[in-house]
Amino acid sequence: MAVIGVGRFIQQRQDFEDSIARSYQVEMVARERIARGTGGVKARAVVNQQATRREELRDEISGDTRDTALLVAAGLLAGLTGALLLFSGLISSMRRPLEQLVDAAGRLAAGDRSARVEVGGLAETATLGTAFNEMAEELEQEEVRRAELDRLKDDFVLTASHELRSPLTSVQGFAELLMLERDSLTPRQAETVEVILDNCRHLVRLLNDLLDLARSDAGRLSIRPQPTEVAPLIADVVRTMRAQTEAGGQALSEAVDPNLPPIDVEPDRIRQILVNLITNAHEYSPEGASIGVTARVGGAEVEIAVSDNGPGIPKEHLERIFERFTRGDAGLTQRVGGTGLGLAISKSLAEAHGGSIVAESEVGRGSTFRLRLPVASAPGTATGGAPSDQATAEAG
Ligand SMILES: Nc1ncnc2c1ncn2[C@@H]1O[C@H](COP(=O)(O)OP(=O)(O)OP(=O)(O)O)[C@@H](O)[C@H]1O
Ligand SMILES: [Mg+2]
Repeated sequence: MAVIGVGRFIQQRQDFEDSIARSYQVEMVARERIARGTGGVKARAVVNQQATRREELRDEISGDTRDTALLVAAGLLAGLTGALLLFSGLISSMRRPLEQLVDAAGRLAAGDRSARVEVGGLAETATLGTAFNEMAEELEQEEVRRAELDRLKDDFVLTASHELRSPLTSVQGFAELLMLERDSLTPRQAETVEVILDNCRHLVRLLNDLLDLARSDAGRLSIRPQPTEVAPLIADVVRTMRAQTEAGGQALSEAVDPNLPPIDVEPDRIRQILVNLITNAHEYSPEGASIGVTARVGGAEVEIAVSDNGPGIPKEHLERIFERFTRGDAGLTQRVGGTGLGLAISKSLAEAHGGSIVAESEVGRGSTFRLRLPVASAPGTATGGAPSDQATAEAG
């Protein structure tokens, strides 16, 4: 419309100038006749007429120019509105797929491997959408493959540990029998059987640990919880560990809150955790160190803490202490022959009970491991050993 307006304006100016020129020509002819004295009244009338005509032409052109200007303005306005509408349509057609992409990328990063986008919009956004969907598809398939490999690994470890454990247990049994006949063996033979027995015990423990971890990974670590009294359980573990700590010249004490409610656990599994924690405290602390086991209630959980005043664990190592095969290099760790599985298993077991385990430590001051376990919900007959007549026991 604006272009038509401009065209019309040019045409009108052209017509106006032609008409003005023609009017001057007619007037010039009339003036010539007047000058020559041949025109008379008629020629003068023509001169006046042409002056009036030019006035009219000027009025006409200014009116036309105003109309044309309005037409051009209206055209420009319509053009601008159209352009705006087109532009906003274009922006929204680009925005929707981009918003979808951002949303899907966020979900994918958060672990939702099924996140996909609807491919659409401009060619570039559609290409981006297709590439995103392909990438998400690959990630999803990769995850499926990884889960399958994990399952195969768990199965292999489970089967291998299980199959190796049986013959090893029988070798251990025979070595123990031979040890009973120690007196009839030569000193060299007795020493050899002792080495065999030590190695068998170490291997059986390692295989048991591997079995537990593989079961936990495969979601097959079955826990049979029952309401269990805490004090007798702790007293039992402390009793078993005392021979070892005394041999190391270490003081092992226990202090248990008198009003502890029973906890909902499988007692053997909790013993296993406590033995791991006390063994660590004993093995990594020097001769003469103190080891303490305490228990108290906190909300819906009972917290059992195993503390020592041993070498402590450096901060950077403390963060990774519950990972498998993680062993420190400070203190007595290198001297003690461990596998780095004890705490990983303890954590799996605590979590399988719906509990948790955390470590606090300061180099040079010692470490504390806190095991939190759920209180038994319904009152029942708690097991765990004979209830102690002295609820808070201090030993050492
Ligand atoms: N009470 C402690 N004091 C100092 N360091 C500790 C203590 N408990 C654990 N650690 C450190 O944490 C590491 C991991 O302990 P974890 O019990 O998992 O494995 P491990 O004792 O090395 O081997 P094992 O599988 O035989 O128990 C240890 O190697 C040791 O460096
Ligand atoms: Mg250990």
